[in-house]
Amino acid sequence: MGTKLYIKTFGCQMNEYDSQKTAEILQNKKDMEITTNVEEADIILLNTCSIREKAEDKVYSELGRLNKLKIKNPNIKIGVGGCVATQEGSNITKRAPYVDLIYGPQTLHRVADLLDEDNKLKAIDITFPIEEKFDSLPEPTATSPSSFVAIMEGCSKYCSFCVVPYTRGDEVSRKAQQIFDEIARLVEQGSSEIVFIGQNVNSYKQVHDGRTLRLSDLIDIASNINGVERIRFTTSHPLDMTDDLIEIFGSVPQLANQLHLPVQSGSDRVLKAMKRNYTADSYRDIIERVKKIRPTIKVTSDFIVGFPGETHAEFMQTMQLIEDIQFDSSFSFIFSPRPGTPASILQDDISKSEKKERLNILQARLNEIQRGFGQKMVGSIQRCLVTGISKKRLDQLQARTECNRVINFPFQNIGFIGKLVDIKVEEALAYSLLGTLHNTKELV
Ligand code: SAM
Ligand code: F3S
Repeated sequence: MGTKLYIKTFGCQMNEYDSQKTAEILQNKKDMEITTNVEEADIILLNTCSIREKAEDKVYSELGRLNKLKIKNPNIKIGVGGCVATQEGSNITKRAPYVDLIYGPQTLHRVADLLDEDNKLKAIDITFPIEEKFDSLPEPTATSPSSFVAIMEGCSKYCSFCVVPYTRGDEVSRKAQQIFDEIARLVEQGSSEIVFIGQNVNSYKQVHDGRTLRLSDLIDIASNINGVERIRFTTSHPLDMTDDLIEIFGSVPQLANQLHLPVQSGSDRVLKAMKRNYTADSYRDIIERVKKIRPTIKVTSDFIVGFPGETHAEFMQTMQLIEDIQFDSSFSFIFSPRPGTPASILQDDISKSEKKERLNILQARLNEIQRGFGQKMVGSIQRCLVTGISKKRLDQLQARTECNRVINFPFQNIGFIGKLVDIKVEEALAYSLLGTLHNTKELV
């Protein structure tokens, strides 16, 4: 019987991508078999996230549970990968001595070798060989009609609150040819949507055939690869929303009608303290320029409330920005001080309850706007990518609209999976839509 591998992923899309690559490496090099049942696993890997304290706490609670399995079966190997591994390093083995290997986001390609190490002290590798990682990734496997393609790693923006530059290293853009090859392989295997991912995809820069390519070039070239029906990118930084990237929304129809552009705050003073290097008005200006080209584009964002020293008036400036932009679904968080970041030592005199209150107010308004957009879609025809069978109802298929909303519709034909279809929106539910197929002639 083959060795069984269980991987639990915490955090962002980059981590999901990394987990898939880790699984592919161990399947290829060690002939391991993936299991979704942790109880039967021989190797258990946690791909961790340290972006907020809560995310990190979850990892230690999970390790406590895994220790019980290891007591029952000491042959199990437990590994911790991802950003907590880099942040904590050998501290992990102090708090959880039963952990066998520790590897960072940039050394996952060495996991097979680390597993061979008998000496626990040697089974720690949290260095940053990013290019080596990209060069060592296995052939991609398409597991869904929508596939992530990492185009860069790390971040050099050093926002004052963020741990990413310390856990993933400075930004490195992946070789363009590797990206195009990966897209071609994924499309051959049935993927029709490509999502360019990275901590800051719009700062991509890489020389290819004597020319410096940027994200807009990657989008343009990818749109000409046969079988690429839809393209998305996430996440991006407002400072790198250059004219070429804004203009590409006008020339590449496959580029989805959605833009995720984290703003964090609507207060210029807070933005400065966050070291974001833009103002609320320059953010408004970017969105205005994108909307000139794509008037119906849906904008989504990330927000942090309760940054040290944020006054009520500054919080209300964020609320005003939400009114002005009318964001669709967004992510919002209470500021979490991360060890080693400049913001973690700023004086913070806002109470926990005040921060929670601000988050509740902000999320309630974002949800209201999002529901309003959903209601407005009722009766419209949406071009959707069918992604699979609905998670809750086996008699429904699930698809994604251009603005990335989940839409379920009555099951007709399994062959629709991976295809773009027109769906009439019949009902808007709290977090998804219900629809019916509009025109299936082209598919049957
Ligand atoms: N590249 C993106 C950008 O331009 O801002 C950020 C990616 S970051 C990994 C994801 C999100 O986590 C951030 O946009 C921010 O809202 C949130 N985040 C990061 N550090 C945080 C902290 N210390 N406390 C609360 N939220 C945080
Ligand atoms: Fe973090 Fe700012 Fe980079 S939020 S990932 S340091 S753009």
